[in-house]
Amino acid sequence: LKVHIINGPNLNRLGKREPHVYGSETLDDLEKKVTAHADRLGAEVTFFQHSSEGAIIDTLHAAEEQADAVILNPAAFTHYSYAVRDACASISIPVVEVHLSNVHARESFRSVSVTAPVCRGQISGFGFEGYCMALDFLYREESK
Ligand code: DQA
Repeated sequence: LKVHIINGPNLNRLGKREPHVYGSETLDDLEKKVTAHADRLGAEVTFFQHSSEGAIIDTLHAAEEQADAVILNPAAFTHYSYAVRDACASISIPVVEVHLSNVHARESFRSVSVTAPVCRGQISGFGFEGYCMALDFLYREESK
C-alpha cells in the first residue's frame, strides 16, 4: 500500500502555531509517528506539505500515478477551495480527509468542508492519531 500524505497551508508551523489547538509537537514529529505506524503495517508513506493551492492540486493529480491512496489535510482550503475539491474528485484513487482539531467544535466556518463530499470520508479531532486511523482504514480496504 502506497499512500501520499499531503498537508496544506500553515501545517509546517505545527508546534509553534496555536499550541492550545494543535499541540506542541511539530510536523516532523507527525511524520515520524505516522511513518512508524506505516512501518508496522508494511505500508509506504510519502509526505508533502504545500502552502499554495496549486501545489496541492498538482500533488493530488500526480498521486493518481504514484500512489494507491491519499491522506489529505487541506487545512483552511477545506472550507472554501472548490479547486482542491475538484482535484480530489478528478482522481480515481481514494482520498481520506483528516483534521487534527475537531473542526465541528470550533468557529462555524470550520464545520463546512467543501472537500469532504468528494473524499472517502473525514476524520477530525484525533490529532496525529487521525492520520494513523486513516492509514488503518486504507490498509484494511486494500486487503479486502
Ligand atoms: C485544520 C483545521 C482547519 O480549519 C485549519 O484551517 C487548519 C488545520 C486541522 O488540521 O485541524 O489549518 O485542517
